[in-house]
Amino acid sequence: MKFAAQFHHVVKEYVLDGETVRALRGATFDVPEGDYVAIMGPSGSGKSTLLNLLGCLDRPTSGTIMLDDCDVSRLSDDELSEIRASRIGFIFQSYNLIPQLTVIENIEVPLYYQGRLDPAARRRCIELAQMVGLEHRLGHRPTQLSGGQQQRVGIARALVNDPAFILADEPTGNLDSQTTEDILAVLEELNRRGKTIIMVTHEPDVGQRTKRIVRLRDGLVISDEINQHRRPPRTDTSSMPAVAPQAGV
Ligand SMILES: Nc1ncnc2c1ncn2[C@@H]1O[C@H](COP(=O)(O)OP(=O)(O)OP(=O)(O)O)[C@@H](O)[C@H]1O
Ligand SMILES: [Mg+2]
Repeated sequence: MKFAAQFHHVVKEYVLDGETVRALRGATFDVPEGDYVAIMGPSGSGKSTLLNLLGCLDRPTSGTIMLDDCDVSRLSDDELSEIRASRIGFIFQSYNLIPQLTVIENIEVPLYYQGRLDPAARRRCIELAQMVGLEHRLGHRPTQLSGGQQQRVGIARALVNDPAFILADEPTGNLDSQTTEDILAVLEELNRRGKTIIMVTHEPDVGQRTKRIVRLRDGLVISDEINQHRRPPRTDTSSMPAVAPQAGV
């Protein structure tokens, strides 16, 4: 079995005002390629810490984190940002869009910063906007969109570098139940096309939609189970946004 990520005996300590917080105390789990994992657990159990380490935003205090065949626990900041840019797409609870920019510009932002915004890349961004059903909103600004539409922009932006991995921290935490369904349908479709997805969620209903549930408590993995009761999407997939095949996702 090929693993997209392996997390072995990972410890993460934060030192704050001379006091050490052990956010992760030796967490271990593996993520096969193409998996769709929910990370669940009480507030403060280490979920965001774990996701940030997987996303190469930070390094562990000890332990090993493998992404594909690369040990990312010991890389330099520059090497980590290179991996982040090329392999990882982040989706945030609060969308993290830039209010002054339009929908299409927000999707283009990562490419802009990488100096890779050529005409082909622009076309690809438009295809991603189509894929998430926003082709009629390209010139809108975030405040002119619903929460679900803003999250669709966040998803399209996460896909611009065609990452193998999608990491999402409470992606439906600010959405109502119908919009949550729509966003889960998009994630499900991306997973069906081969993206590995790791999603932190508090909501049992959302966790039930993934292939596997990893539970944390006090910085440790306390259970790691295949989701036997996986619920199929409630949204009728015939209403899914048309997907441009050349989008490469
Ligand atoms: N930058 C930091 N500096 C110091 N302590 C931190 C830092 N980030 C997190 N912590 C602490 O590490 C522990 C785990 O935090 P983390 O954010 O991973 O929890 P979480 O499971 O995501 O919680 P929530 O469900 O509330 O988002 C908490 O006790 C938190 O206070
Ligand atoms: Mg958190």
